[in-house]
Amino acid sequence: TTVLVLNGPNLNRLGKREPAIYGSQTLADLEALCAKTGAELGLDVDFRQTNHEGEMLEWLHEAADESYPVVLNSAAWTHYSVAVGDACAQLTAPLIEVHLSNVHQREAFRHHSFVSAHAKGVIAGLGADGYTAALRHLASLTA
Ligand code: DQA
Repeated sequence: TTVLVLNGPNLNRLGKREPAIYGSQTLADLEALCAKTGAELGLDVDFRQTNHEGEMLEWLHEAADESYPVVLNSAAWTHYSVAVGDACAQLTAPLIEVHLSNVHQREAFRHHSFVSAHAKGVIAGLGADGYTAALRHLASLTA
């Protein structure tokens, strides 16, 4: 099974970006962890990041058309993009929403998500473990 692991804006800055919140792990480290976990689980992990909302929308359309399960960290778009939420609504395979930080412990504007209503589950605050837990869950559905 192919799983898309999609990452939104500023996540290419992991490692340099607010390390007290997001840790010292880089996006390349996260990608390597997801690839390793995917290999263990027999999933074909396609890991991507973009700072461009239209590109993210097109990836979500691709996931809808191909019925790919999705692990999504839509970063700041989570909190204000009706378009990302509308694209998530079109998904046909399970969607897991992931955030590295515990958004509910942070500013009030991070407490709302346009994605959550369309997600099977939401993981926030577990750092990179959130991504591997999401992959494990998706693998358990197809096993
Ligand atoms: C984030 C949380 C968002 O509020 C923030 O805008 C991000 C990253 C996280 O992974 O903790 O860019 O999605």
